[in-house]
Order: sequence, then C-alpha cells, then structure tokens
Amino acid sequence: MKGIILAGGSGSRLYPLTMAMSKQLLPVYDKPLIYYPLTTLMLAGIRDILIITTPEDQHAFQRLLQDGSQWGISLSYAVQPVPGGTVQAILIGESFIGRDTVALILGDNIFYGEGMPGILKDSARLEEGSLILASYVQHPERYGVVNFDADERVISLEEKPTHPSSNWAMTGLFFYAGDVVSVAKEVRPSPRGELEITDVNKHYMRLGQLKLRLLGRGNAWFDTGTHESLLEAANYVAAVERRQGLMIACPEEVAYNLGYIDQADLERLAHHYARNDYGTYLQRLRAAKRAW
Ligand code: G1P
Repeated sequence: MKGIILAGGSGSRLYPLTMAMSKQLLPVYDKPLIYYPLTTLMLAGIRDILIITTPEDQHAFQRLLQDGSQWGISLSYAVQPVPGGTVQAILIGESFIGRDTVALILGDNIFYGEGMPGILKDSARLEEGSLILASYVQHPERYGVVNFDADERVISLEEKPTHPSSNWAMTGLFFYAGDVVSVAKEVRPSPRGELEITDVNKHYMRLGQLKLRLLGRGNAWFDTGTHESLLEAANYVAAVERRQGLMIACPEEVAYNLGYIDQADLERLAHHYARNDYGTYLQRLRAAKRAW
C-alpha cells in the first residue's frame, strides 16, 4: 500500500500564523505537525509516501523530511497549485498510486492511542473498496458525519451538515483500493467549491464497499485547523510526553521500532540534534536497545 499526505491548503483559518508558513510545518509541542500524520502512515506499515504541498512550501518540506531514506522510507513530493479539496490529492497522485492500494491522510490530523498501531496495520490490509475511521465528537457539524446501523454498516455520510445524524465524525484518514482514481475523476465541486472526499466515500457506500472502523474512547483524534485545536493538540502531546518520558510521533523511533533503521543509524541521526531534548531522547532509545 502507498500513502499520500495532503499538506497543501491555504490554512486561512490560522492566519496570520500561516501567511508565511505552511500549517503542516507549525509546531505541535516539540515537532512539526506533519510528523504526526507521517508516523501514522509509517505505523500502518506504509513506506512509499507522496507529500502534496503548495508550490511555495515544497522546499521547506523537502528540507525537513528529505527523501525519507534516513528513516528507511521513501518520500516523494508533488504540488497542489491551487487548493480545491481533498479529492485533488488523489488526482495529483494518479501516477504515484498506479494500480496500488492507497492510504490518504490529511496533513493536520493527529491520531494517538494504545490500539492505534494495530488498527492502522489492519486497515492497510484493505484489498478492495474503501475504509474510513470515525471518531465520536462533541461538534459533528464541523466534519463529515457518519451514520451507521447496529452492524456498523454505513447508512449515510454528510459533509458538515447543519443537523448531524450522529456524533461520529469521519476522520481525515482514508484507505482505498486502486480504482479510487477513476472514482475521484467523477467528483464535481460541492457548494463550497471543493472536491469533497465525502463524495468519493459515498460512491463506495452505495456499492456496499465502504468499511467503517470506529475509534473507541481510548483513542485520541485531533484535527488542528483552528488556534484552539492546535493548542489543545500541543497540550495533549506535552502532557503525555512529559508524564511518560516517551515521544508521540517521533519518526526516528517509529523507524527503529519497525526495524527500518538500526542503532548505528539512530546514533548518526541523534547527532543532528546535539544535546537538545530530541537528541537526548534518540540517544536514550539507542542505549535502551529495545522498543518501548
Ligand atoms: C475534511 C473532510 C471531512 C473530515 C475532516 C477531518 O474536512 O471533508 O469530512 O471530517 O476533513 O479532518 P476539511 O478539513 O476539508 O474541512
């Protein structure tokens, strides 16, 4: 399975923070936002990842993430010339996807929880149709809303409805079979002028090929599109990391635990950070000789 991170968009809800800087490069406590969706894809076992950015920000992402080989993965880059909706990621990624299955994650989505790696790995086993993850939220009207029956079969999907039919929000992580490119090509702009991923998902729902995975209360899901949600996510990450002394979304650690890099690689990578907390953490990891 391949992976795509959509890190384009104007981020206008965060102005002036994002007037000169991509939203997905903003800090979430001690790491750039994009580290979180990136490690989510890595934990799903995905190693071939396309990062879609605005034309102006591409170099900054490349400077930060390089070609991925330092973490045993492959990163490539494409631009979204003008923001026009999530579906554009699939269209821009057409040749990258080829005939493979693909996971698409929105660059501002953060997932965390005890069972997450298992859920991600399971989801990446998808062979046909599609799979979405849903999370229970207090304000479903801000999201794509999923309604489902007693067998967790999806009955309806609505993008930002005024009167939501449930409290289950569609998260920004989607798994698709290779036919998703042809489905995406049929999508037409919504009233807000965007090519909505909800329309792609509705297509699979109508065919009975939309699987749903509910994230239970023990899983945290944040989207970081507003000042409050960005701060809340940072506070959450800080609280967990400071309490445990373990990092959330550290690509070096994930790569090490997955066996993509070894102790010597970790040692080399740690040198970039000299004696700061991040570097000290990598040194601790290397010395522990085991996965936490
Ligand atoms: C997008 C999707 C929406 C989903 C959300 C998750 O919304 O359209 O269905 O619930 O991501 O982050 P957007 O961020 O484009 O408003």
